[in-house]
Amino acid sequence: MKKTKAAVFASGTGSNFQAIMEADNLPVEVVLLVCDKAGAKVMEKAAQYGVPVLLFDPKAYASKSAYEQKLIEELEKAGVEWIFLAGYMRIVGPDLLGAFEGRIVNIHPSLLPAFPGKDAIGQAYQAGVDTTGVTVHYIDEGIDTGPIIAQESVGIHPEDTEDMLKERIQQVEHNLYPNVIRQLLNQTT
Ligand code: GRF
Repeated sequence: MKKTKAAVFASGTGSNFQAIMEADNLPVEVVLLVCDKAGAKVMEKAAQYGVPVLLFDPKAYASKSAYEQKLIEELEKAGVEWIFLAGYMRIVGPDLLGAFEGRIVNIHPSLLPAFPGKDAIGQAYQAGVDTTGVTVHYIDEGIDTGPIIAQESVGIHPEDTEDMLKERIQQVEHNLYPNVIRQLLNQTT
């Protein structure tokens, strides 16, 4: 199986990173984890899988463009072809978008366009809706606005706590993201 070299961008616990690493027959070799948060749990997971980590501090750069140029250099050095965002909390700027046009994908825990931005699970829970879900989409210059690739619904039950809802959403994420990645890369290789 031909494997496409990819980077995962993540700054959280890394459960989606782990799901990508554990997925069967994924035509992907994760050659880099990019993280902007010192101490993030996802870095320990990368170490377990032997994936090199690029930890960067955006504040150490004069501008978004400056750190994205550095990222592009490192991504190109590692031979990265696709970027999968999984809990990366920054807006991708024009430099990175331009360098990886049509090859940056994100997972978001709501049925976009509903509940974009931070704490999408909490937003849906507080809103009292009976259905939320998960969206995998291409990245554009907005916040969770890029073209949608796949969505899956998750019901919110009357007895749900926010934690119960979060757990069910994450289960869906951990299946959906690898499945979508598999489809995307099988189409393009
Ligand atoms: C996921 O819910 C993802 O949808 C969102 O950030 C969260 C990351 O969780 N973009 P994890 O670090 O993969 O556990």
